[in-house]
Amino acid sequence: MRVTVLVENTVGRTLPIGGEHGLSLWVEYGGHKLLFDTGQRGVVVPNAAILGVDLRQAEAIVLSHGHYDHTGGLRRVCEHIGRSLPVYAHPDLFSAHRVSSPTDKYVGFPFVREAIEDLGAVFTWVAEPLELYPGLWLSGEVPRQTAFEKGDPRMYVYLGGERIPDPLADDLSIYIAAGDGLVILLGCAHAGLVNIVEHARSVTGISKVAAVLGGTHLGPADAAQLDASISFLEKLDLKLMAANHCTGQRVAARLAAVFGERFRFAAAGEVLEI
Ligand SMILES: [Fe+2]
Ligand SMILES: [Fe+2]
Repeated sequence: MRVTVLVENTVGRTLPIGGEHGLSLWVEYGGHKLLFDTGQRGVVVPNAAILGVDLRQAEAIVLSHGHYDHTGGLRRVCEHIGRSLPVYAHPDLFSAHRVSSPTDKYVGFPFVREAIEDLGAVFTWVAEPLELYPGLWLSGEVPRQTAFEKGDPRMYVYLGGERIPDPLADDLSIYIAAGDGLVILLGCAHAGLVNIVEHARSVTGISKVAAVLGGTHLGPADAAQLDASISFLEKLDLKLMAANHCTGQRVAARLAAVFGERFRFAAAGEVLEI
Protein backbone atom coordinates (compact mmCIF):
# COMPACT_ATOMS: atom_id res chain seq x y z
CA MET A 1 0.00 0.00 0.00
CA ARG A 2 1.05 3.57 -0.57
CA VAL A 3 0.07 6.84 1.07
CA THR A 4 0.92 10.16 -0.58
CA VAL A 5 0.66 13.28 1.59
CA LEU A 6 -1.12 15.77 -0.68
CA VAL A 7 -1.66 18.51 1.89
CA GLU A 8 0.02 19.20 5.21
CA ASN A 9 0.96 22.31 7.18
CA THR A 10 4.47 22.11 5.72
CA VAL A 11 6.12 21.06 2.47
CA GLY A 12 8.76 18.38 2.77
CA ARG A 13 10.16 18.06 -0.75
CA THR A 14 11.79 20.34 -3.30
CA LEU A 15 8.63 20.57 -5.37
CA PRO A 16 6.48 23.60 -6.23
CA ILE A 17 3.59 22.41 -4.09
CA GLY A 18 1.79 24.41 -1.43
CA GLY A 19 1.47 23.93 2.30
CA GLU A 20 -1.55 25.03 4.30
CA HIS A 21 -2.81 24.23 7.78
CA GLY A 22 -4.71 21.05 7.06
CA LEU A 23 -4.41 17.48 5.91
CA SER A 24 -5.14 15.40 2.82
CA LEU A 25 -3.85 11.91 2.09
CA TRP A 26 -4.07 9.86 -1.11
CA VAL A 27 -4.44 6.19 -0.22
CA GLU A 28 -3.73 3.33 -2.62
CA TYR A 29 -4.48 -0.12 -1.28
CA GLY A 30 -5.43 -3.44 -2.90
CA GLY A 31 -6.16 -1.79 -6.25
CA HIS A 32 -8.36 0.86 -4.62
CA LYS A 33 -7.71 4.60 -4.56
CA LEU A 34 -9.32 7.00 -2.16
CA LEU A 35 -8.87 10.51 -0.87
CA PHE A 36 -8.76 10.90 2.91
CA ASP A 37 -9.54 14.54 3.76
CA THR A 38 -9.16 17.52 1.47
CA GLY A 39 -7.06 20.14 3.27
CA GLN A 40 -8.27 23.68 3.87
CA ARG A 41 -8.42 25.83 0.74
CA GLY A 42 -8.09 23.62 -2.32
CA VAL A 43 -4.30 23.45 -2.74
CA VAL A 44 -4.94 19.71 -2.83
CA VAL A 45 -5.87 19.92 -6.53
CA PRO A 46 -2.64 21.48 -7.89
CA ASN A 47 -0.53 19.56 -5.35
CA ALA A 48 -1.99 16.26 -6.53
CA ALA A 49 -1.22 17.10 -10.17
CA ILE A 50 2.40 17.96 -9.34
CA LEU A 51 2.75 14.78 -7.30
CA GLY A 52 1.43 12.64 -10.16
CA VAL A 53 -1.83 11.78 -8.43
CA ASP A 54 -4.96 11.76 -10.61
CA LEU A 55 -7.76 12.72 -8.23
CA ARG A 56 -10.31 11.69 -10.89
CA GLN A 57 -9.35 8.08 -10.19
CA ALA A 58 -10.68 8.34 -6.63
CA GLU A 59 -13.35 5.77 -5.91
CA ALA A 60 -14.44 7.65 -2.83
CA ILE A 61 -13.62 10.50 -0.50
CA VAL A 62 -13.43 9.87 3.24
CA LEU A 63 -13.66 12.81 5.64
CA SER A 64 -12.07 12.36 9.07
CA HIS A 65 -14.28 15.03 10.69
CA GLY A 66 -15.98 18.31 9.92
CA HIS A 67 -13.16 20.76 10.81
CA TYR A 68 -12.50 23.19 7.97
CA ASP A 69 -8.83 22.25 7.67
CA HIS A 70 -9.87 18.74 6.57
CA THR A 71 -13.02 19.56 4.59
CA GLY A 72 -12.33 23.01 3.09
CA GLY A 73 -10.81 21.59 -0.10
CA LEU A 74 -13.89 19.49 -0.80
CA ARG A 75 -15.54 21.90 -3.21
CA ARG A 76 -12.42 22.27 -5.37
CA VAL A 77 -11.96 18.49 -5.34
CA CYS A 78 -15.57 17.80 -6.37
CA GLU A 79 -15.38 20.44 -9.12
CA HIS A 80 -12.16 18.87 -10.37
CA ILE A 81 -13.46 15.28 -10.32
CA GLY A 82 -16.64 16.41 -12.03
CA ARG A 83 -18.77 13.35 -11.42
CA SER A 84 -20.80 11.69 -8.72
CA LEU A 85 -18.84 9.88 -6.02
CA PRO A 86 -19.45 8.74 -2.45
CA VAL A 87 -18.21 10.88 0.44
CA TYR A 88 -17.98 8.81 3.63
CA ALA A 89 -18.16 10.56 6.98
CA HIS A 90 -19.72 10.33 10.41
CA PRO A 91 -23.27 11.76 10.58
CA ASP A 92 -22.06 14.57 12.90
CA LEU A 93 -19.92 15.97 10.06
CA PHE A 94 -21.95 19.19 9.97
CA SER A 95 -21.82 19.71 13.74
CA ALA A 96 -21.25 23.41 14.53
CA HIS A 97 -17.67 22.94 15.78
CA ARG A 98 -16.10 26.00 17.41
CA VAL A 99 -12.76 26.90 19.04
CA SER A 100 -12.11 29.50 21.72
CA SER A 101 -8.47 30.16 20.81
CA PRO A 102 -6.51 31.85 19.26
CA THR A 103 -9.74 33.61 18.29
CA ASP A 104 -13.22 32.46 19.13
CA LYS A 105 -14.78 31.20 15.91
CA TYR A 106 -16.69 28.60 13.96
CA VAL A 107 -14.33 25.95 12.58
CA GLY A 108 -16.78 23.44 11.14
CA PHE A 109 -17.73 22.32 7.64
CA PRO A 110 -17.44 25.47 5.50
CA PHE A 111 -20.04 24.77 2.80
CA VAL A 112 -23.77 24.43 2.46
CA ARG A 113 -24.43 20.71 2.15
CA GLU A 114 -26.57 21.04 -0.98
CA ALA A 115 -23.89 23.05 -2.79
CA ILE A 116 -21.48 20.13 -2.41
CA GLU A 117 -24.14 17.57 -3.34
CA ASP A 118 -24.86 19.56 -6.51
CA LEU A 119 -21.23 18.95 -7.47
CA GLY A 120 -21.68 15.18 -7.23
CA ALA A 121 -20.90 14.34 -3.61
CA VAL A 122 -23.11 11.57 -2.25
CA PHE A 123 -22.78 11.75 1.54
CA THR A 124 -22.73 8.27 3.02
CA TRP A 125 -22.88 8.14 6.80
CA VAL A 126 -20.65 5.86 8.82
CA ALA A 127 -21.41 5.74 12.54
CA GLU A 128 -20.31 2.12 13.02
CA PRO A 129 -17.12 0.43 11.75
CA LEU A 130 -17.39 -0.31 8.04
CA GLU A 131 -15.12 -2.61 6.01
CA LEU A 132 -15.20 -0.47 2.88
CA TYR A 133 -12.88 -2.75 0.90
CA PRO A 134 -11.48 -6.11 2.05
CA GLY A 135 -8.86 -5.21 4.66
CA LEU A 136 -9.73 -1.49 4.83
CA TRP A 137 -12.08 -0.23 7.52
CA LEU A 138 -13.57 3.13 8.32
CA SER A 139 -13.69 3.43 12.09
CA GLY A 140 -17.08 5.05 12.52
CA GLU A 141 -17.42 6.62 15.97
CA VAL A 142 -14.54 5.70 18.27
CA PRO A 143 -15.45 4.88 21.89
CA ARG A 144 -13.68 7.09 24.42
CA GLN A 145 -12.11 4.65 26.90
CA THR A 146 -8.92 6.07 28.38
CA ALA A 147 -9.08 8.46 31.31
CA PHE A 148 -6.18 10.60 30.10
CA GLU A 149 -7.50 11.49 26.63
CA LYS A 150 -9.88 14.28 27.56
CA GLY A 151 -10.14 16.13 24.29
CA ASP A 152 -8.91 19.58 23.37
CA PRO A 153 -10.30 22.04 25.96
CA ARG A 154 -10.39 24.86 23.37
CA MET A 155 -13.00 23.05 21.29
CA TYR A 156 -16.65 23.51 22.08
CA VAL A 157 -20.17 23.50 20.66
CA TYR A 158 -23.45 25.04 21.73
CA LEU A 159 -26.10 22.59 22.85
CA GLY A 160 -29.49 24.10 23.62
CA GLY A 161 -27.84 27.52 24.01
CA GLU A 162 -25.29 26.12 26.45
CA ARG A 163 -21.59 25.96 25.71
CA ILE A 164 -20.25 22.39 26.18
CA PRO A 165 -16.96 20.64 25.32
CA ASP A 166 -17.09 19.49 21.69
CA PRO A 167 -17.58 15.70 21.74
CA LEU A 168 -16.26 15.52 18.16
CA ALA A 169 -18.15 12.26 17.68
CA ASP A 170 -17.44 12.67 13.97
CA ASP A 171 -13.72 11.93 14.42
CA LEU A 172 -13.09 8.96 12.12
CA SER A 173 -9.89 7.10 11.22
CA ILE A 174 -8.96 4.47 8.63
CA TYR A 175 -7.64 1.03 9.61
CA ILE A 176 -5.79 -1.01 6.99
CA ALA A 177 -4.53 -4.58 7.20
CA ALA A 178 -1.03 -4.60 5.72
CA GLY A 179 1.41 -7.52 5.61
CA ASP A 180 3.19 -6.42 8.78
CA GLY A 181 0.12 -5.51 10.80
CA LEU A 182 -2.29 -2.63 10.99
CA VAL A 183 -1.72 0.72 9.37
CA ILE A 184 -3.74 3.42 11.11
CA LEU A 185 -4.48 6.66 9.26
CA LEU A 186 -5.50 9.54 11.50
CA GLY A 187 -7.22 12.78 10.59
CA CYS A 188 -6.80 14.76 13.81
CA ALA A 189 -7.20 11.91 16.35
CA HIS A 190 -9.71 13.97 18.31
CA ALA A 191 -11.04 10.67 19.72
CA GLY A 192 -7.62 10.10 21.31
CA LEU A 193 -4.72 8.28 19.70
CA VAL A 194 -4.76 5.42 22.21
CA ASN A 195 -8.55 5.07 21.97
CA ILE A 196 -8.22 4.87 18.19
CA VAL A 197 -5.44 2.26 18.21
CA GLU A 198 -7.35 0.06 20.67
CA HIS A 199 -10.53 0.45 18.61
CA ALA A 200 -8.63 -0.51 15.45
CA ARG A 201 -7.40 -3.68 17.12
CA SER A 202 -10.84 -4.69 18.33
CA VAL A 203 -12.62 -3.87 15.04
CA THR A 204 -10.12 -5.65 12.80
CA GLY A 205 -9.09 -8.48 15.13
CA ILE A 206 -5.46 -7.64 14.32
CA SER A 207 -3.41 -6.77 17.40
CA LYS A 208 -0.09 -5.99 15.73
CA VAL A 209 0.19 -2.33 14.75
CA ALA A 210 2.78 -1.62 12.05
CA ALA A 211 2.31 2.06 11.34
CA VAL A 212 0.55 5.18 12.56
CA LEU A 213 0.24 8.05 10.11
CA GLY A 214 -1.42 11.44 10.29
CA GLY A 215 -2.50 14.05 12.81
CA THR A 216 -2.09 12.82 16.37
CA HIS A 217 -3.40 15.95 18.12
CA LEU A 218 -0.65 15.39 20.69
CA GLY A 219 0.56 18.96 20.05
CA PRO A 220 -2.12 20.52 22.25
CA ALA A 221 -2.26 17.58 24.74
CA ASP A 222 -1.33 18.09 28.39
CA ALA A 223 1.81 16.50 29.84
CA ALA A 224 -0.04 13.53 31.35
CA GLN A 225 -1.70 12.64 28.05
CA LEU A 226 1.49 13.13 26.11
CA ASP A 227 3.55 10.91 28.42
CA ALA A 228 0.90 8.18 28.54
CA SER A 229 0.41 8.25 24.77
CA ILE A 230 4.11 8.05 23.99
CA SER A 231 4.70 5.20 26.40
CA PHE A 232 1.74 3.38 24.80
CA LEU A 233 3.21 3.94 21.32
CA GLU A 234 6.64 2.72 22.43
CA LYS A 235 5.16 -0.65 23.40
CA LEU A 236 3.60 -1.20 19.95
CA ASP A 237 6.78 -2.22 18.10
CA LEU A 238 5.87 0.16 15.26
CA LYS A 239 7.74 -0.01 11.96
CA LEU A 240 6.69 3.53 11.09
CA MET A 241 5.54 6.52 13.11
CA ALA A 242 4.63 9.16 10.53
CA ALA A 243 3.06 11.96 12.54
CA ASN A 244 2.18 15.34 11.10
CA HIS A 245 -0.34 18.22 11.18
CA CYS A 246 -1.72 18.72 14.73
CA THR A 247 1.26 16.83 16.20
CA GLY A 248 3.24 20.06 16.19
CA GLN A 249 7.01 20.49 16.02
CA ARG A 250 7.72 20.09 19.72
CA VAL A 251 5.97 16.70 19.94
CA ALA A 252 7.25 15.61 16.53
CA ALA A 253 10.80 16.24 17.78
CA ARG A 254 10.10 14.13 20.85
CA LEU A 255 8.65 11.31 18.72
CA ALA A 256 11.67 11.50 16.43
CA ALA A 257 13.93 11.06 19.46
CA VAL A 258 11.89 8.08 20.70
CA PHE A 259 11.45 6.29 17.36
CA GLY A 260 14.72 7.20 15.63
CA GLU A 261 14.85 5.79 12.10
CA ARG A 262 11.26 4.63 12.38
CA PHE A 263 10.00 8.23 12.63
CA ARG A 264 9.07 10.18 9.50
CA PHE A 265 7.58 13.64 9.50
CA ALA A 266 4.84 13.24 6.88
CA ALA A 267 4.94 16.69 5.27
CA ALA A 268 3.21 17.46 1.97
CA GLY A 269 4.92 15.60 -0.85
CA GLU A 270 6.00 12.62 1.24
CA VAL A 271 5.21 9.21 -0.23
CA LEU A 272 5.03 6.39 2.28
CA GLU A 273 5.24 2.84 0.95
CA ILE A 274 4.16 0.38 3.58
FE1 LIG B 1 -6.80 19.29 11.80
FE1 LIG C 1 -9.57 18.77 13.78
